[in-house]
Amino acid sequence: MNRRGFLAAGLASLGAACGAPQVKSDPAPARVSLRDVRRLVAERVDPVAGRCRYVADLGPRQVVQPILFARRGESFDALIENALPQPTTVHFHGLTLPQSQDGAGFDSIAPGERKRVRFEVRNRAGLYWFHPHPHGFTAEQVYAGLAGLLVVTDDEDQALDAALALAPGNRLALAIADVRVENGVIRPYAPGAPDCLHGWLGNRALANGRLDAGWVVAPGWVRLQILNACNARGLLLGFQDRNADGKETLARFHLLGTDGGLLASPRELERVFLHGGERVDIALDVSGRRALQAVSLEFDARHHTQGAAPPHRHPARARYAPLAAEAVCENISELRDGPADGAQIDLFSIRVEGATARVPALPARLCALSEAAPAPDTPTRRVRLDLDERTGFLIDQTPYAIDETGFSVGRGAREVWEIKNSPISMPHPMHVHGFGFRVLRRLGTFGAARRLATESGGRFPTDLGIKDTVLAWPNETLWLALDFALPQEAAFGGPQRYMFHCHNLEHEDGMMMRNITVL
Ligand code: C2O
Ligand code: CU
Ligand code: CU
Repeated sequence: MNRRGFLAAGLASLGAACGAPQVKSDPAPARVSLRDVRRLVAERVDPVAGRCRYVADLGPRQVVQPILFARRGESFDALIENALPQPTTVHFHGLTLPQSQDGAGFDSIAPGERKRVRFEVRNRAGLYWFHPHPHGFTAEQVYAGLAGLLVVTDDEDQALDAALALAPGNRLALAIADVRVENGVIRPYAPGAPDCLHGWLGNRALANGRLDAGWVVAPGWVRLQILNACNARGLLLGFQDRNADGKETLARFHLLGTDGGLLASPRELERVFLHGGERVDIALDVSGRRALQAVSLEFDARHHTQGAAPPHRHPARARYAPLAAEAVCENISELRDGPADGAQIDLFSIRVEGATARVPALPARLCALSEAAPAPDTPTRRVRLDLDERTGFLIDQTPYAIDETGFSVGRGAREVWEIKNSPISMPHPMHVHGFGFRVLRRLGTFGAARRLATESGGRFPTDLGIKDTVLAWPNETLWLALDFALPQEAAFGGPQRYMFHCHNLEHEDGMMMRNITVL
């Protein structure tokens, strides 16, 4: 069966199993070179459910929900066009861009307007992504389907593909997002007060916009770059081999890289945890297997918080209707029996077809990334994550204000950030715009999560490498090393404002965000 046939069979069997109408999924994305994009349009395709999409206009053709590809050093120069009924921006998560091109929401694009965005990709090869960031609308727009992948490559990255002898089709970039599916259709975004506290969770997962997505690969190494694009759900990723006798085993795999590209050397794992905004790059040898099911395995999600957060009443929202015909944070959704955060959920499947080939050994060394510790006199900045009964989750007890300075740091300054999450809290995936960082150490991790900590300093495998998003479990203290170096070019002249926020998108819209001003 070809790939299309496999997908169709997957959807048909779903319909048969549920006795429900077939689930509508978004179309499969196509690869687009970042350089070729002339216009990137954000548009709503379904005013009832509020589903939206990106369309890349390449001049001769248009591509819906593209996966963007770039070599390091290539440039983007395109018009971002807002065809949504709400303000929007396009933020390239993980890239180091000047404030004016960061799409962080300081100057959002009004409905019907366009903005020219130009930048050069300076970051390491790796999986990055783009999504809206207009304050107060981010969670709704990302849930609506506005999230795209940017795969950055370079010589080192391509040398690795060659060393793995990757068959065509054995390298995939995947965005996982959960959605609420009821009676075969994706429900609109309509979080109630508990959703504003815990985050908006779905009951099913989309992979690149598809429910029950599946890919056919050849025997040998498969390289998967995976993003957790969920609004609020953590994923404990594993690959189940579901044998005919009903026994399930987990296929071991190798962690090659994290948010900002390759690690110095791979790590062999059976499961890996990634929260909202985090990425992993993994290699999996599928020789001798017929099919694998990627799942999020059950875990203790540690929501140590009761009650509800106040609805998000952004002044900006008053002037615009929701994308779907339901008010945001006002209606309590009827879907209360879906899988909670930490419940097992299917993500996508892999079918192995073709003749077995020779499988080369995984290189012991992937790149030259040094793990140098910061100098002992590096100043420490203390950051506290707390829950305020009336306001919700806050950074340093301060609700976000778009025009605040927030933290001021010197250009080129090196700092250690000590981030302490309250014991009465939730996991918060904390994200810094524009700057990669290193995770130095963790303290206070609870037992179940500590068992996943395989690295020195109580760190998780996903703490390795260059990070832009890091998970803080309740009661944990994390130490990060940041380097606020910015290039000298005119585009970065003058003070530059970036953001530091929780990537649980309901928390982000709920004011768990601060500005970072680089002077
Ligand atoms: Cu992916 Cu400020 O976000
Ligand atoms: Cu970002
Ligand atoms: Cu959070």
